[in-house]
Amino acid sequence: MQPYYYAMKIPFSSLFVLFLLPLFSACGGNEALENEANSKKVKISQQVRDAHSYANTNEIRTKHLHLELEVDFSTKTIYGVARHEMTNLGTDTAIFDIRGLEIQKVTIGSKGNEINTDYVIGQEDEILGAPLSVKIKQNTENVNIYYKTTDHSGALDWLDPQLTEGKKHPYLYTQGQAILTRTWIPCQDTPANRITYSADVQVPTDLMAVMSAKNPTQRNKQGKYHFEMHQPIPAYLIALAVGNLSYRSLGKNCGVYTEPELINAVAWEFVDLNKMIQTAEDLYGKYEWEQYDVIILPYSFPFGGMENPRLTFANPTLIAGDRSLISVIAHELAHSWSGNLVTNATWDDFWLNEGFTVYFENRIMEALYGKEVADILALIEFQELEQEVKDIQAGDHPNDTYLKLALDGRDPDEGMTSIAYVKGAFFLKTLEETVGRAKFDAFMKAYFKAYKFQTLTTEMFEAYLQEHLLIPEGINFNTKDWLYGKGIPDNCVRLHSPRFEHVEALAVQLAEGKNIFKGKNLKRSDYVTQEWQAFIRKLPRDIDIAQLKLVDEHLNFKACGNAEIMTEWYVLGIQAGYDELRPEMAKLLKKVGRRKFLLPIYRELAKSEKNMSFAHQVYREARKNYHSISVKTMDDLLKYHPN
Ligand code: BES
Ligand code: ZN
Repeated sequence: MQPYYYAMKIPFSSLFVLFLLPLFSACGGNEALENEANSKKVKISQQVRDAHSYANTNEIRTKHLHLELEVDFSTKTIYGVARHEMTNLGTDTAIFDIRGLEIQKVTIGSKGNEINTDYVIGQEDEILGAPLSVKIKQNTENVNIYYKTTDHSGALDWLDPQLTEGKKHPYLYTQGQAILTRTWIPCQDTPANRITYSADVQVPTDLMAVMSAKNPTQRNKQGKYHFEMHQPIPAYLIALAVGNLSYRSLGKNCGVYTEPELINAVAWEFVDLNKMIQTAEDLYGKYEWEQYDVIILPYSFPFGGMENPRLTFANPTLIAGDRSLISVIAHELAHSWSGNLVTNATWDDFWLNEGFTVYFENRIMEALYGKEVADILALIEFQELEQEVKDIQAGDHPNDTYLKLALDGRDPDEGMTSIAYVKGAFFLKTLEETVGRAKFDAFMKAYFKAYKFQTLTTEMFEAYLQEHLLIPEGINFNTKDWLYGKGIPDNCVRLHSPRFEHVEALAVQLAEGKNIFKGKNLKRSDYVTQEWQAFIRKLPRDIDIAQLKLVDEHLNFKACGNAEIMTEWYVLGIQAGYDELRPEMAKLLKKVGRRKFLLPIYRELAKSEKNMSFAHQVYREARKNYHSISVKTMDDLLKYHPN
C-alpha cells in the first residue's frame, strides 16, 4: 500500500528465510519469559501462532517500552523514539511490526551509548503492514527506533478545532485495537506479549495529554507530560489523547476527563462510576489498575468505548442525558478483568475478551439496577445475535459464527461481530444456569486469578473449564459445540421480560393503525432506551408512514438526541420509505463517527439506488469527520473511491 521501501544493503544473511518461517509467539507472563531466558529453552508446546504479527517474540521480546514523543499539530505528525528493553534468547534479529510509519534510524544500546544498526523493511501487506527486521547482537537488550508517523498512520485521528466541543483547540486521539498500534509505534504488535511502558510526551502548551497510564489532572506550562504504566499490558492497549481537557473526580480512585464544555453533563451521567467499581470488585476480585477514569472524546471516536487501562476512551453519544447508556461504561470497566488482566492470545480468541466482558457487564448492571433492567439489555443484544447469525451464514465467511475464529489473511476487525460478544456471553450464561450462580462465580473469580497478567487461547480456556468446573461437578456440557460449532446451540438460555413484551404489544397496536397516544400522556421518559429499541424493532417494515409520523409528533424520535434510538428509527424509516427523516439522518451521519450507528444506516441506504445516491452525497461530506476505522468500513460498504 505505502510506497516506502527503505532499500537496504541486506548485510545479514538468512533474513528472507526468516520471513518464510511460520511466525510464533509464546504466551505467558514476563516472569515466565525470564525463566525461559535463563535456561535458553523455548517450550514449543507453549507457543501460540499469531497470524497478525510479524514479531519473532519466541526469540526476543519487549519487556519495557519507553516512548519519547513530540505531537506536532501543524503537520499532523508524531515524531517519536521507541526504546525497547528486551529479553533476548540469543537471536541476531529483532522483528517489529510497522505500518504507515517512516523509520529514520535504528540504534542498539542504552540511551547515550547507542550505535546505529542496519535494518530492513519487508514487503508491505495491506492488512498487516510490514516487518521491520533489525540486526542486533546475540546479547542485545536495547533497540531504539527513531520514526515519524504519516497520513497512513491509521490509529491517529487528528481533529481540527471545529470538530471539537469547544471549537477552539485541535484534538488528537489514538485507537490501537486490534492491530493499529503499529501505525503509531513500531512495536511487537501481538496481544500474546505483555509489556510495561513509560512515555515523555511534548504537546502544545494550551493542550493536555493523557494516556492509558498514570495521568495528570491539570495542564502544565511546558506542555511536557511523563507517563508510567507499571502493570504489563498488550501493545493494543497503549493509547494517547491530546486536547483541551478538564478533569472531575467522581470518587477516591475514579473520575472523568473531557472538554470543559461537557464536564458537568459527563459528571452527571456517570455519577454511579464509583459504585460500579465496587460492584465489579465484589463480583470478581480486586481492581488491579489503581485508578479508573473515563475520557469522553469527540464524536468521531469509532466506538462506544475502548477499554484502555486506567482510562476508558468513550464516545459522547453515551451522554444521553438520562443515564440510560452507562452499560457501555460497565462494559469497559469489566474489561479491566476480562481483556486487560486476562487477555486473548490471538484475535481468533477475541471472544475471550468480549464474551466474558458482555457477561460481566450484564452482571454489573444486574447488581446495580436489578434483573429486569439487565434482562432487557441482554434481550436487545440477543436479537442482534440472531440477526447476525443469519447474515453471517448467508455471507462469504459462514464459519464466522464459531466462537473460535480463523482470521488468517483477514483484518481482525472482521471478528468484531455479535458472535464474540453475545454468543460468547450466552455461552457463559448457559454455563451459569447449568452449574448454578454460586459455583459459576467462584469459577470465574478463580479463572481471573489464575490467568491474571497472562494471555490465553480458546483451547487453554476449554481445558481450564473442563478441569476446574465441568469434571469436578460431574457435568457433561456441549462445550465443543459452543466453541467450534456454528450458530446458537439448542441449550442456550432463553430470557423472558414482561417489560419487553409490554412495549412490543404497544408496537403491535401502533402497527394495526391504532393511535397509542390517545387519552394517554405517553412520554419518551416512560421507557428506557432499550425498551424503545424493542418497540421500534417490533414495528413491521412496511408500516404506514402516517403511524411513524404520529410517533414523531409525540416522541420526536427523529431528533431526540439519543443516537441508539435515532439509528433504529432511521433504519426503519428507510425501509418504510419515510423520506422526511433525511435531513435529521444526514445531521447524525455528519456529526457522529461511531461505527455502530453509521453501519446500519448506510447499509440500509445502500440497498436501493435512490437511497444510495443520498448516502454518497452525505458520505462525501461526512467522511473527513470519521476515524480511519469507520472510513475503511464505509468505503467498502458504499464502494466509495476518494477522488
Ligand atoms: N474493545 C472493544 C472495542 C474494539 C473491539 C475496538 C475490537 C477495536 C477492535 C470495546 O470494549 C467494545 O466492545 N465497545 C463496544 C461497547 C459495547 C459492546 C458495550 C462499542 O464500542 O460499541
Ligand atoms: Zn468490549
